[in-house]
Order: sequence, then structure tokens, then C-alpha cells
Amino acid sequence: MIFCRTKAEASKALEKPRAQARSLGLVPTMGALHEGHMSLVRRSVAENDVTVVSVFVNPAQFDESRDLEKYPQDLRQDLLLCEKAGVDVVFAPTVEEMYPEDFSTWVEETQLSRGLCGAARPGHFRGVTTVVAKLFNIIRPGRAYFGAKDFQQAAVVRRMTRDLDMPVEIVVMPIVREGDGLAMSSRNSRLQGPSREEALVLSRALARAEELYRAGQRDVGVLVREMLDCIRSAQHVQVDYVEIVDAESLEPLEHLNVPALAAAAVYIGDTRLIDNRLLNPTEEGTTP
Ligand code: PAJ
Repeated sequence: MIFCRTKAEASKALEKPRAQARSLGLVPTMGALHEGHMSLVRRSVAENDVTVVSVFVNPAQFDESRDLEKYPQDLRQDLLLCEKAGVDVVFAPTVEEMYPEDFSTWVEETQLSRGLCGAARPGHFRGVTTVVAKLFNIIRPGRAYFGAKDFQQAAVVRRMTRDLDMPVEIVVMPIVREGDGLAMSSRNSRLQGPSREEALVLSRALARAEELYRAGQRDVGVLVREMLDCIRSAQHVQVDYVEIVDAESLEPLEHLNVPALAAAAVYIGDTRLIDNRLLNPTEEGTTP
């Protein structure tokens, strides 16, 4: 496995595979890797000749400096996990390498990124699309892997590649959960003591919505109220948003007659967690 800190090193590492026209998969991450990340890595290793994992805590997508400062990092462990999974190249650039002082160009998707996390975190998706576009240009993958845990992010990235004619296929993988239902997240390591238990209301609320939906409930107001009741039952959990939106346009819905996404974000102390579930009348998986 080759470890690269600079764009020049990454280009050099990829020179030969590119010349041989070998298929290239990219898994963009911010590190502190867990099974959710590794499910993407394994899929990429399985379907590409060469897999690159990027590890970069992207300051441009953090709207709160405290969240950025406290973001967990463990590069040594990340490298071990990648090596074991058969990754060929890990690209872990510095902030200066990605954002020189006079950096002044941004990539912005303006429709799918408006609601949900986009409304709650101003500038977040502009930071995501900009860094992902940069990674696509540096690595030039044929496929790139994203998780449905960040459903809106995957939808925004896919729209960016379509709108800007980027020659990369976006593969979206299902949410990987802990045994008790909590969606895996690098931020989960910040949950201590009773917070970890209370965090379960997030996945439970979404599971409850799905259960009611399967039982025939189609009224968005009723489903959202049920989810809010469930989340508010936990003392230290604050609701950021709870919404049901059209799974394609991500616009708010009143009636559930199309594939929909129930999505929620909460704060436990200053740790923000998100989760979502598809409510799909055809029962077929809808991916962003
Ligand atoms: P990060 O939060 O590290 O996540 C990297 C990728 O792993 C994302 O595509 C995310 O959806 C996926 N992922 C995280 N937890 C998951 C889980 N429990 N199940 C399935 N997939 C999961 O998302 C980012 O980093 C950044 O925004 C990034 C795309 C790297 C741009 O900076």
C-alpha cells in the first residue's frame, strides 16, 4: 500500500495503473474509519483493479469550528484497516496542500443541497462538493463510493457529476449500523455514558416512522409527530430537524405517494448525529 501526502505523490502512484487503463475506485473519507467506511472500501476493492482511499478532514465543510477541532482522527489505525482491506493507495493531504492561501474557487450545487442538512449547516455542501470535485480531479476515479447514511450528500454529489459532466460513476452503499441500530459514525466515539444510550432514539424514531408507514400511515404530519415524540423522550437529545421529503427531489412532501426519505438530525451535547430511512411504496431500494 502506498501512502501519499501530496497531489504529486498521488499522481506518481497512479501513473502506472492509469497507463495500463486499470479501473480505479475512490472512497473519499474524513478518517476515523469504521465498518460503515469499510463497507465502501470492500466494495471498491471487489470491483476495481485499484482502490484509493482519501483521508482528509475538510475544513471547508464544517460550519462550526468546535466540531472541526473535536473531529476524531486516527491515521495510524486508518492505515492498518486500509492495508488489511487490500487498499492500494491512501491519500491523506494536509489542509495547505488542498487549500493554498489564495484559494478562491468553489463548486456549488443549488437545488438538492438547499434543505435538510443544507438548511441546518450553511455552506456545508459547498465545502463537500468543492473537496469531492478536487479529489475527483486529483485521483480521476472511474467509480466513487458514498454511503446512504449521508443520503443528501450522495444525491448532491451525483447531481454535481451529472451537471458538470464528470466521468465518474457514483456508487451508493446501504447504512451500516451498530447491533442496537445506531448508524455508525466517526462522531459516535464522542458519545459517552448515558449519551450513547440516548442516541438510540434517532434510529428508533426512524424505524417507528417506517413501521407506521408499512402499516398504511401516509400522513406526513402524523409520522413527523411520532418521530418527534420518540426523540423528545430522551432528556439530553435536541432535535435539529425531522423531515419527510421526496427521495428524488429532496423537497418536502405532504402526502406519501412517491418514494420518500425520512431524515433526522439531532444534537447530543455538541455532537451532531444524522440518520435516515427510505419509505418506499414499491419496496425497491431507492438510492440517491
Ligand atoms: P465521512 O463522514 O468520513 O464519510 C465517508 C463516507 O462514508 C461517506 O460517503 C459516508 O456516507 C460513508 N459512511 C459513513 N458512515 C456510514 C455508515 N454508517 N454506513 C454507510 N456509509 C457510511 O462524508 C464524508 O466523510 C465527507 O463529507 C466526504 C465525502 C469525505 C467529503 O469531505
